[in-house]
Amino acid sequence: MEKSGREKSASPKSENITASISTVTLPQREQRNRHRGAVLWFTGLSASGKSTVANELEKALFKKGVQVFVLDGDRVRHGLCSDLGFSPTDRQENIRRVGEVARLFTDAGFICLAAFISPYRADRLLVRKLMDGGNFFEVYVNAPLSVCEQRDPKGLYVKARQKKIKDFTGISAPYEPPLNPEIELRTDKLAVPDAVEKILRHLRKVCGVKK
Ligand code: ADX
Repeated sequence: MEKSGREKSASPKSENITASISTVTLPQREQRNRHRGAVLWFTGLSASGKSTVANELEKALFKKGVQVFVLDGDRVRHGLCSDLGFSPTDRQENIRRVGEVARLFTDAGFICLAAFISPYRADRLLVRKLMDGGNFFEVYVNAPLSVCEQRDPKGLYVKARQKKIKDFTGISAPYEPPLNPEIELRTDKLAVPDAVEKILRHLRKVCGVKK
C-alpha cells in the first residue's frame, strides 16, 4: 500500500508504535462542517502581511461557520518551538513541527492558516508532501523588502541593519520565494480586504466554503 505523506516524512525514534485510527472519519467531519479541511501556507518576509491577512481571513471564515485556526510564529515560538532560534536547521525544525500540527488540524477537518516566514523552499515542500499534495495551498505574501523595511512594525529591520539581530531574513539570511504558489498577494498594492476576498474565492472552489 502507498505510504501516506506523514509515514514517508517521519522517521520516529520510538519503536513498536502503530498508526492511530479515528472512529470518527474525515468525511463525517467534513459533512458536518460543510467544507473540506486544508492548509493555507502563508510565506513571505517579516512585515509582509502574513499574519494580518491570515487573521482577517480567520475572522471572515469564522463568521461563515467555518472551522478555522491561525498558527503563526508569535504563537508557536513561545511554546511548541520555544527551544528554536533562526539558524537554517532551527527554522527547518520549526516548519517541520508546525507542518505536523497543521496536518493534525486538517485531520480534524479544519482550515488551518499557517503564517510563517518559512524562507526555504525545501522546508515548504516537505510540508506540501506531508499533506499528500491534496489540500495544501501556498500563499505567497509578496511585498518588496524596501516596503517591509519601511513598515517595520516591531523595529526588527532597524536592529538587523545595526547587526543587533543576526540571521535576519532579507538582511542577513536568505528568503527563497515560491516558484509556483497557488495564490500570490502583492500586499504593497492590494488592500487587506481585497487579499482576503482573493483567498475566499479560492476556498470556495477548493474547499466548498459557501459565499
Ligand atoms: S521562520 O523563518 O522559522 O518561518 P517564523 O515565522 O517562525 O520564522 O518567525 C518569524 C518572526 O520572528 C518574525 O516575524 C520576527 O518577528 C521574529 N524574528 C526574530 N528574529 C528573527 C530573525 N533572525 N529572522 C526573521 N524573523 C525573526
